[in-house]
Amino acid sequence: METVVSGIRSTGKLHLGNYYGALRNFVKMQNEYNCFFFIADLHSLTTHPTPQDLNTTVRQVVVEYLASGLDPEKSTIYVQSDVPEVAELYLYMNMNAYLGELERATAFKDKVRSNPDNVNAGLLTYPVLMACDILLHHGTKVPVGKDQEQHLEMTRTFGNRFNRLYEVDYFKEAFAFSYNDKLVKIPGLSGQGKMGKSNGDADCIYLSDAEATVKKKIMRAVTDSGPTSPNQSKPESIQNLFDLMKVVSSEDTLAHFESLYNTCEIRYGDFKKQLAEDMILATQEVRSRIDDINRDEEYIKKVLQRGAEKAQASASKTLREVREIIGLKKLY
Ligand code: TRP
Repeated sequence: METVVSGIRSTGKLHLGNYYGALRNFVKMQNEYNCFFFIADLHSLTTHPTPQDLNTTVRQVVVEYLASGLDPEKSTIYVQSDVPEVAELYLYMNMNAYLGELERATAFKDKVRSNPDNVNAGLLTYPVLMACDILLHHGTKVPVGKDQEQHLEMTRTFGNRFNRLYEVDYFKEAFAFSYNDKLVKIPGLSGQGKMGKSNGDADCIYLSDAEATVKKKIMRAVTDSGPTSPNQSKPESIQNLFDLMKVVSSEDTLAHFESLYNTCEIRYGDFKKQLAEDMILATQEVRSRIDDINRDEEYIKKVLQRGAEKAQASASKTLREVREIIGLKKLY
């Protein structure tokens, strides 16, 4: 069975875009592959979070992923720093990652531009650590978006270079992976583009938002002054709300409001009220699971302990083999 590895950025709460996009795929992959899902807390150290922030966001991400259907019985769910073997592998792999190629990475160049005051070595070697996350478990499939494509290419470069240097056929090549069914596009509430944290909290419905918050955010979503001629095409802000309705409401409801729009009789207040109601219903189960898991400290501990054990078993085997290949043999 092929191995899937995915690192989850530990930047806190999940929104509907994460849920209907990446997460639904992860949940499906668990049934078909040997999956490792981990919270990339070591990677987030590049931005120097406070210990308190780091700790709470990692916990929150674990809770929300579990609530969304990641199943610790089926996959290995762990926190990156619980498996220190990755740091050792990172040290070895850094010996044959070259300054030039690291400096050319697009994500690195973007960071240098956006944060010129914090261009640290960890940022430069971020792709090496990411490669090690994958190589550690001999992952071949990595469910990531386009923005991570270059990092995967670097992962293949580092693995192949290791194989060549030591004349072994040890590390496998990993490739980006997604199901080919069309990804559900989740637009944001600000009238433009995909739902995203970078557009601000008002753009996003978070899985952990209280019902009243969901309602408030939707009622405040950007609209226009309404259609003026029959069957006219919709501006982006309106299309976005219809797209959201398509995800959370019944076909009948959607058809009802489509037809009101086409006859210029739509009242955005009613439309949004319905959307908010259906949104609350559609996310109710996850929301209540988030609350349940949040209250169950024992369960969280058990999941992470078991995940760490499983990940460590896989990692320590790799490190034993890598040390042997490199020639780090004990002399005593
Ligand atoms: N770099 C990834 C991101 O920003 C997160 C990540 C870290 C990752 N290690 C990984 C993803 C290993 C896949 C595999 O989204």
